[in-house]
Amino acid sequence: MAGSRPVSAWTLFLSLLVLIGCIVVPGLTVKHENFKTCAQSGFCKRNRALADDASAQGTSWSSPYELDSSTLQFKDGQLTGILIKTTTANEKLRLPITVSFLESGSARVIVDEEKRMKGDIEIRHNSKVNKKRYDETEKWVLMGGLEASKSAALNAEAEAGFTKVQYGPGDKFQAIIRHAPFEVEFQRDGQTHVQLNHQGLLNMEHWRPKVDKEGDNDSGEDESTWWEESFGGNTDSKPRGPESVGIDVTFPGYSHVFGIPEHADSLSLRETRGGPGNHENPYRMYNSDVFEYELNSPMTLYGAIPFMQAHRKNSTVGVFWLNAAETWVDIVKKPASSNPLSLSGSSKTNTQTHWFSEAGRIDLFVFLGPSPQEISKTYGQLTGYTQLPQHFAIAYHQCRWNYITDEDVKDVDAKFDKYQIPYDVIWLDLDYTDDRKYFTWDPLTFPNPKGMQEKLDESERKLVVLIDPHIKNKDDYYVSKELNSKGLAVQNKDGDVYDGWCWPGSSHWVDCFNPAAFTWWNSLHKYDKFQGSLSNLFIWNDMNEPSVFNGPETTMPKDNIHYGDWEHRDIHNVNGITLVNATYQALLERKKGEVRRPFILTRSYYAGAQRMSAMWTGDNQATWDHLAISLPMVLTNGIAGFPFAGADVGGFFHNPDKELLSRWYQAGIWYPFFRAHAHIDTRRREPYLISEPHRTIISQAIRLRYQLLPAWYTAFHEASINGTPIVRPQYYEFPDDEEGFAIDDQLYLGNTGLLAKPVVTENTFTTDIYISDGEKYYDYFDYTVYQGAGKKHTVPAPEDKIPLLIQGGHVIPRRDRPRRSSALMRWDPYTLILTLNKNGEADGTLYVDDGETFDYERGGYIHRQFQFRDSILSSEDLGTKGPKTAEYLKTMAGVTVERVVVVDPPKAWKDKSTVTVIEDGAKTASTSSLEYFEQQGSKASYAVVKSPNVGIGKSWRIEF
Ligand code: GLC
Repeated sequence: MAGSRPVSAWTLFLSLLVLIGCIVVPGLTVKHENFKTCAQSGFCKRNRALADDASAQGTSWSSPYELDSSTLQFKDGQLTGILIKTTTANEKLRLPITVSFLESGSARVIVDEEKRMKGDIEIRHNSKVNKKRYDETEKWVLMGGLEASKSAALNAEAEAGFTKVQYGPGDKFQAIIRHAPFEVEFQRDGQTHVQLNHQGLLNMEHWRPKVDKEGDNDSGEDESTWWEESFGGNTDSKPRGPESVGIDVTFPGYSHVFGIPEHADSLSLRETRGGPGNHENPYRMYNSDVFEYELNSPMTLYGAIPFMQAHRKNSTVGVFWLNAAETWVDIVKKPASSNPLSLSGSSKTNTQTHWFSEAGRIDLFVFLGPSPQEISKTYGQLTGYTQLPQHFAIAYHQCRWNYITDEDVKDVDAKFDKYQIPYDVIWLDLDYTDDRKYFTWDPLTFPNPKGMQEKLDESERKLVVLIDPHIKNKDDYYVSKELNSKGLAVQNKDGDVYDGWCWPGSSHWVDCFNPAAFTWWNSLHKYDKFQGSLSNLFIWNDMNEPSVFNGPETTMPKDNIHYGDWEHRDIHNVNGITLVNATYQALLERKKGEVRRPFILTRSYYAGAQRMSAMWTGDNQATWDHLAISLPMVLTNGIAGFPFAGADVGGFFHNPDKELLSRWYQAGIWYPFFRAHAHIDTRRREPYLISEPHRTIISQAIRLRYQLLPAWYTAFHEASINGTPIVRPQYYEFPDDEEGFAIDDQLYLGNTGLLAKPVVTENTFTTDIYISDGEKYYDYFDYTVYQGAGKKHTVPAPEDKIPLLIQGGHVIPRRDRPRRSSALMRWDPYTLILTLNKNGEADGTLYVDDGETFDYERGGYIHRQFQFRDSILSSEDLGTKGPKTAEYLKTMAGVTVERVVVVDPPKAWKDKSTVTVIEDGAKTASTSSLEYFEQQGSKASYAVVKSPNVGIGKSWRIEF
């Protein structure tokens, strides 16, 4: 008998291996050795050493920077002067400083180095690199908001050695500038909220000639990382020597700081100087292709936005560090000093942050809030707001690496229809190309790209294809030939075309810092050049950190040279958005007369990317932990001004089981950018392939996204005009509730009052939702009531249920008819869901436009304010009129409200059976039927108005 056979040691060993294989989750970890820790980065180490030195010396530490009072001038909202740095050798170096007070209420501090501004320095290795400190980051990032404050004025009462400037709305802000040692304190209403150089860590490594000798220099400084730096077999030649800049920013009385994406970490940022639960390394921002990235880590990822919000009870302030070079931020929280006068709120913590970049200038914006909304708005005035996307872009995207033929694409398309699962966009990864040459199609597998796009267009679906910035180095490839003949490629330190390794093998990189590269890139996207592309094709720009497989830290050498003779070191973090910018222009101008909103997905980003693109969190893994971290990552991006964000639904690497996949869809519908994607080695997992009941669970989730598209689009509209995140964390909605500040696993959709708490752990069938206020919250699906401020409420979450509540007091616009794609919902009627607040009132907004063109900029849209007061629901116009308004309203004339649901209505409605409907312009009032549904257990009663059929673009009232 087989069962009685003796078990050999070998069998035991094999069984053990199998067992281990089953236990170990296939999560992989990053190759740490490929990326620098702070200790392996010269300038990080030096700036940290400075901080250690200062802290060891305590009160006897004094910053060696002082303002030369005799140079100070205040004019037109701007204070200028010379900051003097005294070196250890007692040299005095001149650093021009400008503090600008802006009409928007923010302040900007710029410090540069006089010698370098004048070009009065020598560059080593005969390098041709620019002598200046890079001062063009703003060219790529800032949009406006730089108007000088008209009311900013010097405060004449400042004591000697201080300059005080009153500014901001109602002159509520004040900057107190101490000359020696230099420090700036930013006050709002007489209280200090932000301090610069309070810890004395201001550091501007000035230019100096290299004196050839061994070991330390005269002043005893360790020069070992000044002139050359090697890592992982690559040597950085550093032709300008050490040139880092740094400063400390203290937030007195603040215990939470948020922002500075991209990191796979919690929303509330951790301390970075070690200790339990803290990081050992600073948060790093050096855009990189981090293979198998790790979670709960300050390691850098693909994008960077050096914008931070500090929050305490009822006050949010922020800083934006405008520097494109490699940047690190240390965070330390200290008990607040015993000076109770300086603080309000109950926070007893000061958060001290320390920012440093390898090159460039100090260029820092300070925002004084006081609300998170004001910070979003002011920051957006500078860097721009989210582009209002085309409608399809906020619907569901189906991607994988790779759909292998045009027939495969058509088959997937047909299957979605067969199983009645809506989707809007199908994506082609890398391998649609002929031999990884972008702007071509593989002739064997994609012989008929046009036919494929035409098929998609039958249901108004779109195609997105991958175009990366590395161009295959091949003589017979016209794109490569043009790149080189036009001299548009990035150069190596010797001024030759830089050659590196990426997907196509040996490659060159287009240098989008060169304006001529824009013109050329533009030409490549024209229909006659990118043959086989149609107008429903859009672009995915990936690998634009740039990713270079054989480069240092998987990117370009820092001493590579870009247009303008800037070193790659200077511009690294904006490199990605230069490409996106070029693609954006190209998509705008594909064909004369065809002007539609571009759609671009980018992996690498910097502040400002929100104006042109969506982002995703790169190559995640099909694990529960990766699902969980996607929520704080998306939330963080939102508060850092780039809310059109998402993660690969299902996880990029590995195969999710059905439970994980279903939960991921239930979470993914809350990503502003909602796309499923998978690695080439994974099994197919299109939703229709999943067996029941999971297919239905996933379909229902996607349909919920489609049902709520009107609310989503309205939230995008708000983001596009005032910078508010599309999905928002708890603190943003309840800035006075300290209990909620660190919560990052539940989120609010725009202003809708919808509060979602996706399940992100295995085998979990209930979840706890934290409620801040005393309003009633209703389960979205069955109106179960949850009420009780400042505590968690347990909500059932069986596998087929998405924990989702609606706060009392809202009007939520929906479209309930399932369709194949969002475009096919264009003429569908709306349903309005009302939940009443404690006063029996509700408010909501709806923004609608054609979802495609720029006509909305000329008034081609509908913007309604819904209000429920005194038993009357009304719809009023919020829109600004423009030349396109009437035309648009005409196209929407037949689109109506087909149903109004009032949750938990007054009891008296039980006896009503009709409501009166009065539409503007109608000759007479009409009636609609009202049906009342009794309360059942903990489920609230509700009433339904059937077919009021009021125009969505019209003003009207429904009297109950
Ligand atoms: C990168 C992207 C991934 C894509 C792959 C192939 O790893 O992050 O999404 O599928 O490249 O293009």
